[in-house]
Amino acid sequence: MQDVLIDSADGVMTLTLNRIEKKNSFTQAMYGACADALLRAADDASVHVVVIQGHATIFSAGNDIGDFLTRGGASSQESQVFRFLRGIAAFPKPLVAAVCGPAVGVGTTMLFHCDLVYAGDNAAFSMPFVNLGLCAEAASSLLAPRLMGYHRAAEALLLGEPFTAESAMEMGLVNRIVPPSEANSLAQAQARKLAAKPLPSLIETKRLMKKGQMAEVLAQMGEEGESFGRLLQAPHAKEAFSAFLEKRKPDFAKL
Ligand code: COA
Repeated sequence: MQDVLIDSADGVMTLTLNRIEKKNSFTQAMYGACADALLRAADDASVHVVVIQGHATIFSAGNDIGDFLTRGGASSQESQVFRFLRGIAAFPKPLVAAVCGPAVGVGTTMLFHCDLVYAGDNAAFSMPFVNLGLCAEAASSLLAPRLMGYHRAAEALLLGEPFTAESAMEMGLVNRIVPPSEANSLAQAQARKLAAKPLPSLIETKRLMKKGQMAEVLAQMGEEGESFGRLLQAPHAKEAFSAFLEKRKPDFAKL
């Protein structure tokens, strides 16, 4: 799987999104590869921490829009997307992300489930689900209002407005901002610090921090998934996806 490079060293498993020519947009195969890697990492005692990183110019353009058009009913909870989303939400060990450039859709929502997030100063976060005729996913409809406050979450999720690395840091979604060329190495250095700590203590502390909301997060993800699957089949989404692929503005007025 060249689109996601998986490498393990010094207790750190690194998933590098590597579909640069398509702006690291996620195909079903990429979700599947990441979900499998997280399962392996959870079970493998030699892995203490997982890092998710992209390129200095792009973290991820979100779901592959061509895949959205052809996915049909595969938004079900058995899909690779769901395996990945559940995998990051319930991952028991520390998850660290390095984000540079655009982080669109799942590129932003996955960060709600990471423990540490380091951003390049070029990072641009966005959750434009409504603009695509879809709805929030990855429990972002629960976690964004909780983290950002309702009104800022509404700006991000209803208007689909992008926000900067500075805003993300102010909201608590990002730990530190560095030049883009340094984000991946900072994430790796922090991951190695974590990997040197006692693993049972890391796992137990993360579990205790997350346990209050875990059931709620998984339930919200399930409900979002049902709605997302329905909206995926509807004319607004089809128009939005076709417009993106035809490099034009969508025309929702005709629907
Ligand atoms: N799905 C499929 N292909 C995508 C994609 C996506 N989500 N995002 C980008 N690409 C493709 C483009 O179609 C283009 O392909 P082409 O070279 O064959 O024409 C290539 O990647 C480069 O993208 P481009 O838009 O030219 O790059 P950019 O630097 O001008 O803009 C983004 C980068 C990320 C801002 C822009 O690509 C974008 O907005 N993508 C869609 C994001 C989105 O809505 N994702 C869904 C979220 S739920």
